[in-house]
Amino acid sequence: MSTIQALHERFTQLYGADSNEPVRVFHAPGRVNLIGEHTDYNGGYVFPAALTFGTTLLIRRRSDDQLGLASTNFEAHKHISIQGLAYSDEDDWMNYPKGVAVELQKQGVSLSGYDLLFSGAIPNGAGLSSSASIEVVTAFALLTMEGQSIDCVQIALLAQRAENEFIGVKCGIMDQFAVAMGKKDHAVLLMCDTLEYKHVPFNSGAYRLVIGNTNKKRGLVDSAYNERRSQCEQAVRELQVHYPELTLLGQLSLAQYNDAEQLIADETVKKRARHVVEEIDRVLQSMKVLEQGDLAAFGQLMNASHVSLRDLYEVTGFELDTMVEAAWEVPGVLGARMTGAGFGGCTVSLVHEDSIERFQEEVGRKYREKTGLEASFYVCEIGDGVKEL
Ligand code: GLA
Repeated sequence: MSTIQALHERFTQLYGADSNEPVRVFHAPGRVNLIGEHTDYNGGYVFPAALTFGTTLLIRRRSDDQLGLASTNFEAHKHISIQGLAYSDEDDWMNYPKGVAVELQKQGVSLSGYDLLFSGAIPNGAGLSSSASIEVVTAFALLTMEGQSIDCVQIALLAQRAENEFIGVKCGIMDQFAVAMGKKDHAVLLMCDTLEYKHVPFNSGAYRLVIGNTNKKRGLVDSAYNERRSQCEQAVRELQVHYPELTLLGQLSLAQYNDAEQLIADETVKKRARHVVEEIDRVLQSMKVLEQGDLAAFGQLMNASHVSLRDLYEVTGFELDTMVEAAWEVPGVLGARMTGAGFGGCTVSLVHEDSIERFQEEVGRKYREKTGLEASFYVCEIGDGVKEL
């Protein structure tokens, strides 16, 4: 990872030293979701945590209306006028800061020009929210530079709108919220329907969270993701016969769902809905067992979450299943599951600190033997949400 000093040097190389404006430095993390998967767009609970690595942004005001966009991760850099920013495939990652600038302008913030240099430590396409991290750090930095008041919940919502409307990915609120609102050593219990949230201390004692990256590029995620969303909407329409007020699956308790499940005609839609309602219930059970300090019970809930994502929601796939099954076999592992949207990306496991080396060796080897792919592992700490450094 580049040091801040090296980033300042790169900034000067790219944008010159002849400005009296200060260069300010901001950071937003990536995130890992501990449990509560594919529940956010159903108005249910999620339980993510911010990572200690993410996206660093250096920014300096310009005297014109140009937006300078560059990254230490990619070659391409350019200047574009802040007026009339439009999505373009070839702009790749630059669409994220562009989308945020557009959303800020839509809500009445008049932006001057800025030069921006991003530096990302989150592997792309790994399901650790590198895009939410770019969006949130951009929104936070631009609002700070403009002297506007900062409300991180509003920043999360704005970043989600940029993703939904400018990028065209119909994600829920979890990623942007975790990145904006994370807190060191805490996970965030978020109710996605009302945005009520609570920082829950994550005391894992002798156990550590280990992220395993399948390094399987996630193809066709967006279409499969949108298909799951519409299957959930379909379930809501059918359940409305019994619950006329229902707008989101997350509004039903497991018992209420059980009473009405037979109204759903299609077997696949039924499986999707059952996953959502049971997964939300698992988040609530997790709160209880974590409060009692029962990490082993939390591990069991993580395992059950994975099985449900595999068999009912069908978003895991060979690589994630192989890695999680290998993790389950290692002594000292309390639980393991996929994290994020699925179809590739990462797993998260709760591993005893004395077993970490063995975990990486055994999971890495079994995963390589079965998939031909090389896994990478990150023993993670829980970090803070977006801030100025
Ligand atoms: C992706 C989306 C989130 C959420 C997860 C699945 O990360 O961006 O909004 O839906 O998938 O839980």
